[in-house]
Amino acid sequence: MKFEKKDFLWGGATSASQVEGAFDAEGKSLTIAEMRPFNPNLDRKSVDELNKYTRSDYEKSIDNKDNLHYPKRIGIDFYHRYKEDIALFKEAGMNIYRMSIAWSRIFPNGDEAEPNAAGIKFYKDVFEECKKNGMEVMLTIQHYDVPYPITKKYGGWSNKKVIDLYIKFATVIMKEYKDLVKYWLPFNEINVATLAPTTGLGIFREDFSSEEDYVNASWQGLHNQFYAQAKVIEIAKTISSNIKMGCMVANMTTYSSDCNPVNIWENLATQQMQRYFYYDVMVKGDYPSYSKRYFKENNIKFETTPEEMEVIKNNNIQYITFSYYMTSTISKELKDAAGGNLMLGGKNPFLKATEWGWQIDPIGLRITLNELWDRYQLPLFISENGIGVVETLNENNTVEDDYRIEYLSKHFEQMNEAIKDGVDVFGYTMWTPIDVVSLSTNEMSKRYGLIFVDYDDYHKGTGNRFKKKSFEWFKNFMKTKEL
Ligand code: BG6
Repeated sequence: MKFEKKDFLWGGATSASQVEGAFDAEGKSLTIAEMRPFNPNLDRKSVDELNKYTRSDYEKSIDNKDNLHYPKRIGIDFYHRYKEDIALFKEAGMNIYRMSIAWSRIFPNGDEAEPNAAGIKFYKDVFEECKKNGMEVMLTIQHYDVPYPITKKYGGWSNKKVIDLYIKFATVIMKEYKDLVKYWLPFNEINVATLAPTTGLGIFREDFSSEEDYVNASWQGLHNQFYAQAKVIEIAKTISSNIKMGCMVANMTTYSSDCNPVNIWENLATQQMQRYFYYDVMVKGDYPSYSKRYFKENNIKFETTPEEMEVIKNNNIQYITFSYYMTSTISKELKDAAGGNLMLGGKNPFLKATEWGWQIDPIGLRITLNELWDRYQLPLFISENGIGVVETLNENNTVEDDYRIEYLSKHFEQMNEAIKDGVDVFGYTMWTPIDVVSLSTNEMSKRYGLIFVDYDDYHKGTGNRFKKKSFEWFKNFMKTKEL
């Protein structure tokens, strides 16, 4: 099969806290991402790791009396090795790099009057390196790494004061990098705010007197992010027409477990509140009618003002990006049992899953692209897609990762089909071009890269980079566009 579309952006995606390391270099503050320890007894099939640690667990990391390992403090040492990594991305044939910027390097406490010059310089150097290597940059402004001082002083995103801090940060970096960065995403996977509030919003259960208050605070935090995003879009219009603003949603496509209308309805209701809701707000600029019923029936309360709603209405995104890893199934029974928080969904007998239980579904990508295009008529970009596998280097210092080649090529094929269906897809960044620390389980051993990084879960190793078989496969695909 030939991938016909010209002018397509092909690349890889990472995030600051998963690659940079140098967690306390040149004035940077700690982020919540760097305060969650590696858990050697983790259950790979559960997403509990994101929600089970308390504020005091996080704070224990400051003195670290228990001598635990905090993987995101080291990442893959991109802070010192970025030139080598960007050169490898270029060698693979990539023409875009999606990365994120650490707020904690630019405004370590959030409320300083002036940005940290060392942080500003670091990212300028990285963006210039990308430019030199012929790569566009897609920049996520916040990717799961709220600076700890902001959570301590302000309590995280449920506090409206954090909106102003974020807008100040975003304005500074848009002015600074407008000529180096074209594609901007204000928040990574904005829908994770209510699913994993500590990760998405920097808020902690113990800071609220009841579960209900915590849930409401997570919706408040989400609303604050919707507003902050719209405000940033408004400001971007005054800074440069070079800035293209999109959104980023963790796209959890689900299917009904069978053709029982009861389950079909439950699936639709899940899709509404798990996916469409987010796109609807950011594309159409208002809370959709079905969400109002959901809030009422679930007793969810948060504060919005007419001014905020006006900004949200008038400042919509220009394109949609989303992460796509898997699909799952929904039934009434499953939903009743899960009591609302259903991050992974049910099993699909037609799909195979990874060791982490993520069900691989390339055709689901075509379905998702068609559906989003039909609903929103906005250009689409797949900002994350990939497969995490435990891997070791063989005697030839490589990894024979045929499963990754199969995963990527099957998804590329379906993306191509969607383009032939008439869907406007303008780019794809795989998660990840190079091994990184896992977001959810904090493992180095959950490897996604075309490039192997020699660190284990405790960061023993040289940190050196080795090309996997998939690197050569992708490089060849970039030349031939043949699958
Ligand atoms: C996405 C995140 O949810 O999934 C990334 O944006 C993350 O930060 C990726 O790394 C894969 O998840 P994990 O837990 O396997 O790293």
